[in-house]
Amino acid sequence: MNLDLREEILRLRDEKNAIILAHFYQTPDIQEIADFVGDSLELARKAAETDARIIVFAGVYFMAETAKILNPEKKVLLPDLKAGCSLADGCPPEPFEKFIHAHPGHTVVSYVNSPARVKALSDWICTSSNAERVINAIPEDQDIIFAPDRNLGKYLMSRTGRKMVTWDGVCTVHQAFALEKIGELMKENPEARLIAHPESDPAVLKVADHIGSTKSLLEYVQHRPESSFIVATEAGILHKMQMAAPNATLIPAPIAEDNACACSECAFMKVNTLEKLYRCLRDETPEIQLDEDLLKRARVPLDKMLELV
Ligand code: 13P
Ligand code: SF4
Repeated sequence: MNLDLREEILRLRDEKNAIILAHFYQTPDIQEIADFVGDSLELARKAAETDARIIVFAGVYFMAETAKILNPEKKVLLPDLKAGCSLADGCPPEPFEKFIHAHPGHTVVSYVNSPARVKALSDWICTSSNAERVINAIPEDQDIIFAPDRNLGKYLMSRTGRKMVTWDGVCTVHQAFALEKIGELMKENPEARLIAHPESDPAVLKVADHIGSTKSLLEYVQHRPESSFIVATEAGILHKMQMAAPNATLIPAPIAEDNACACSECAFMKVNTLEKLYRCLRDETPEIQLDEDLLKRARVPLDKMLELV
């Protein structure tokens, strides 16, 4: 293609009154062209605030769906509809509804990495940035279901002292970090701090110096006096991290041998490309479409989350 993609995207963005939102796990070329790059919570907030006519969401399906729920009247585009998520895809609404019925009287808290129909069955939504605050907002004597990430659920139980019934889902990317190899790296780099996303396995979280959302990990690297970090989250974050802390040594946490690549990449996040982003803005498709009733029901727990923090 002979077009200067960057230029064309920016021209179309202005001409069509669009905003480009990108997650930290997108490729550097996409992050650089975006109007805003952030974690799931920040992206949901941006989507809720924007005046733009079109939202181009460079992230995964559940994130674009969330933007649509918050903006039913706007056009929300996702460069590639195949940008799924193992957590969201591993929690289909029908079995989840049965799971809720098997635990009557429970307050249902769903991680934002879930399908819109699961959100519509939930009392609260949370992201990894605000999950602890959401759990703490629920009366202490109230039983809780947490879905779909069992690792985040377990981590939250340890942080809040609450017992929760958890859906048995995992992020295949964060679950793949190899504890033994991380241990070897820590021995070889005794000055390095291990930082991890809470979707990681509890055994990895147990040895981590800091646990937090993508934004929290980024801020940690920026503000700590240490200059070396082993990073246990998706490798896309390293781009912004290195920009925020140019002198820091960033070591991607290793993953198990049987994984396809040496560093941890989310194949779903990486289906988006600059070219697909250009085409979706040019053709205004693929578009996220949800029926009106679902939009209304899924919005209730999302609004509760956004009002809380
Ligand atoms: P954040 O909310 O930290 O951006 O995480 C989103 C995600 O999908 C992590 O795998
Ligand atoms: Fe989903 Fe994991 Fe990819 Fe995040 S990294 S979008 S949780 S599969």
